Amino acid sequence: EKNGYDHFMLKEIHEQPDAIKDTYRGRLLLNDGIIKMAGIEDNIERLTSAQRIIIVACGTSWHAGLVAEYIFEDLIRIPVEVEYASEFRYRNPVITPNDVVIAISQSGETADTLAAIKLAKEKGAFVFGVCNVVGSSIARETHAGAYTHAGPEIGVASTKAFTTQITVLSLIALKLAQFKGMLSASQLREYIAEMEAIPAKVEECLKVDAHVKYISSMYKDSPNFLYLGRGYNFPVALEGALKLKEISYIHAEGYPAAEMKHGPIALIDEHMPVVVIATKRGHYEKVLSNIQEIKSRKAKIIAVVTKGDTEVREMADHVIEVPETLEGLTPLITTIPLQLLSYHIAVMRECNVDQPRNLAKSVTVE
Ligand code: M6R
Repeated sequence: EKNGYDHFMLKEIHEQPDAIKDTYRGRLLLNDGIIKMAGIEDNIERLTSAQRIIIVACGTSWHAGLVAEYIFEDLIRIPVEVEYASEFRYRNPVITPNDVVIAISQSGETADTLAAIKLAKEKGAFVFGVCNVVGSSIARETHAGAYTHAGPEIGVASTKAFTTQITVLSLIALKLAQFKGMLSASQLREYIAEMEAIPAKVEECLKVDAHVKYISSMYKDSPNFLYLGRGYNFPVALEGALKLKEISYIHAEGYPAAEMKHGPIALIDEHMPVVVIATKRGHYEKVLSNIQEIKSRKAKIIAVVTKGDTEVREMADHVIEVPETLEGLTPLITTIPLQLLSYHIAVMRECNVDQPRNLAKSVTVE
């Protein structure tokens, strides 16, 4: 069932072009510039009148929530908070009937996320679920929802669940923006067209595999890694670090690049590999100066850049090129090489990629 791949994780990484397509299939109508999503349409007034959106999730799904925060605030101008479900539920949070809670969960069975939903419902909030597993507990417990349609994800490390969550959350934001009249017809069309171009661009990203494998062989014995990104690529940095930790058992941290100088930069020396996401759209100049700071401390720089980039290439030890897209859709692209990097490093370290130690696919205990 691994379809010729050595591991489910690798198979699932490669399934992403199709999984993303399956997620938007039937929901995007390019010619009409329309997004169809019943769970949103049926509750459109409730959703667009929200005073606040609170996103609850754990792990990788929480990272997808962080990406959604950027998308929602950009497109629909409703304040968004992203919460670890486990902290939210035990914190006596302020929740009102004017809030919309979005719960994100691949499995739909994560105990803390489920408990957070129950709490939000008790307080009168409207709860919307983004799940992959059809008929799961979270899918049943929420007032409405949208499935990711990623197909079964077997590898413990989440890959296609993450990119399809971002896909569906982008569609939700676009749908709400459309209803609120916050996007012109041409802006909406541009977004939809670009979304439809994503599967082919992800396919192109997958072609960096051999190069990423080579980079992996150089750094597989490093005890630490740093991952840096800004804006939409900040959650991608967190996700890249989580992926490396969970499957290769290398300590890794993700940071917003500008936070470096507030502490983590003290860690940097010539032994530290630093993965920097430095794509053209989104704070490029700022990231360049962050790279300079790291470079002057002699760290090894592995940069994810937009195809054709020359400036980062001059400073970085390795560059991984990815195709350009809209800033809001960048995480769908920049995540891919980071998945491959953690995968290859884990394989080279002879780790159990699909079933890392101490981890379960869904965390049904609190
Ligand atoms: O099924 P869920 O999306 O609710 O799971 C949440 C986390 O347990 C999950 O994303 C976990 O962090 C993954 N192992 C990450 O790869």
